[in-house]
Amino acid sequence: MYGDSPVSFLGVLTGILSLGLLLVVARRNKNKRKLPPVPVMTWPLVGNLPSVPLNPRKNLKQWHKEHGDLFSLYFGRTLVVVVCGYNRLKEILVEKGTAYLDRPVMYANEVIGMGHTGLAFSSGPLWHETRSASVSILRELGLGRNVLSEKIHEDIEFLLQRLAEFQGEATNMWHYVHLSTANIICSMVIGKRFNYEDDRFKDVVERIGELSAYANDMAALNYLSALTYLPGDFLKTGRLRRAVEGLKDFAEFCCNNGGRDGVEDTSNENKNFISLFRRKQEEKRVNGIDGLLDDQNLCKTVMDLLGSGTETTSATIAWCVLYLLHHPRVQVKVHEEIDMELGHDRLPCMGDKLRLPYLQAVIKETQRLASVSPFSMMRATSEDVDLGGYLIPKGTTVLPNLDSVMHDPEIWGPDADHFRPERFLNNDTTVMNREEFIPFSMGRRMCPGIGMAQIQVFLFLASMLQRFKFVPPKGEELPTLKEKLGFIAVPTPYKVCCVDRLTRHD
Ligand code: HEM
Repeated sequence: MYGDSPVSFLGVLTGILSLGLLLVVARRNKNKRKLPPVPVMTWPLVGNLPSVPLNPRKNLKQWHKEHGDLFSLYFGRTLVVVVCGYNRLKEILVEKGTAYLDRPVMYANEVIGMGHTGLAFSSGPLWHETRSASVSILRELGLGRNVLSEKIHEDIEFLLQRLAEFQGEATNMWHYVHLSTANIICSMVIGKRFNYEDDRFKDVVERIGELSAYANDMAALNYLSALTYLPGDFLKTGRLRRAVEGLKDFAEFCCNNGGRDGVEDTSNENKNFISLFRRKQEEKRVNGIDGLLDDQNLCKTVMDLLGSGTETTSATIAWCVLYLLHHPRVQVKVHEEIDMELGHDRLPCMGDKLRLPYLQAVIKETQRLASVSPFSMMRATSEDVDLGGYLIPKGTTVLPNLDSVMHDPEIWGPDADHFRPERFLNNDTTVMNREEFIPFSMGRRMCPGIGMAQIQVFLFLASMLQRFKFVPPKGEELPTLKEKLGFIAVPTPYKVCCVDRLTRHD
């Protein structure tokens, strides 16, 4: 029919094409309406990145206030859905958690060619298998039990001695705490404690610090890979690459030596993370199971444990001492509680925890207010999901805004931005467990190091406060409470005088 008249054929064709175009545009707009609102101007190529500062905590708080629990941001062309508020976070991390278990791809892992392996940044079956092996190994190593606290005591004794040597002179206490927490993780992972003067050990601790610090500078690279070609190193990519490679070399060295050439072998019947992982590999091999726990996966998992486990714990301890400098009356109460319940004849152990509710409340308040992992770790949707009436496509990056819960005045009261440990106490005698207290996130992918972190933070702080009074350097202003946000939120480095309470008691 159309063959008879070219004019009418062209007309119909144009009509069809226009209709098609209209449908595409309509569908695009409809898709846009299906996503949570974007709070700021979106630019071509860079998206909303110009409006997201290196430390976006204040901005996210403001956008949460203005737009509610869900809003979208474009990091370059990548859609990132920010999820705020306890109920929404519980929905994505726990109730409908299966669809939000994946991680988006991260530049830092890509540069060393280990993008999809290990525990912290993997997704799908590889993550499932690595997570279940790692959690069962960590359990076997005695996390959450007293076995671990014995190992920790050795490092605490070293730390106390080191701090006492300064005889009350101002020092960067956090640096020594960092070395000790790193050594504890090494002891668990490799079955080997390092001499604190060991160059390899000192180097890897420095690398971990750098990795965490540069994480924000180079966050844009995850979304604008063209930036890697810029001359110079203003995004610190070179330093980041060196830091990741340094950590990788160290992990490879550990996996290959497995603690056998250790300065001091602390493993019980050669029980450490690496040897138990190898045992699982062997079990699979013997049973003819084609598993995913290969050597590269082991090496990356070791990197993840070292990277995630040291800075978070030591920063929490550093935050606590900093808050105590700002709240001397709280420090007096902690000292009184320790003196009354423990005395000074032995180091605190985990069995003392129940007897020190005020200290426990101080630790919880520190974790709440400092919120060292304010945005948890990014997740990605593994299927299309309906979230609050919006249709979020498969593969979307999701940012769980833990900060929005930890500082929510509706949960913690109008003084949510202030340090007040009493909010965690029932009648001054027992500690209140609030489900909204989520520094380790929630659900199946929550922090697997929670047991170890809680033991370390409690034992370190109880022992440090049993021994020292922390005061600011004479004649100087109190150190700032301003944070530095990298991979996590750490205090601005500060100096503190550790005044030995033992010499006073003698
Ligand atoms: C106060 C100390 C710590 C805090 C606040 C903390 C917080 C977190 C948070 C918020 C996440 C993200 C969880 C999620 O995606 O939902 C995480 C993941 C992780 N943490 Fe921790 N963490 C701490 C200590 C530790 C320690 C001591 C270890 C090692 C033993 C560790 C190992 C890990 C690993 C491997 C992951 C990734 C888990 C996965 O993706 O399956 N963390 N942590």
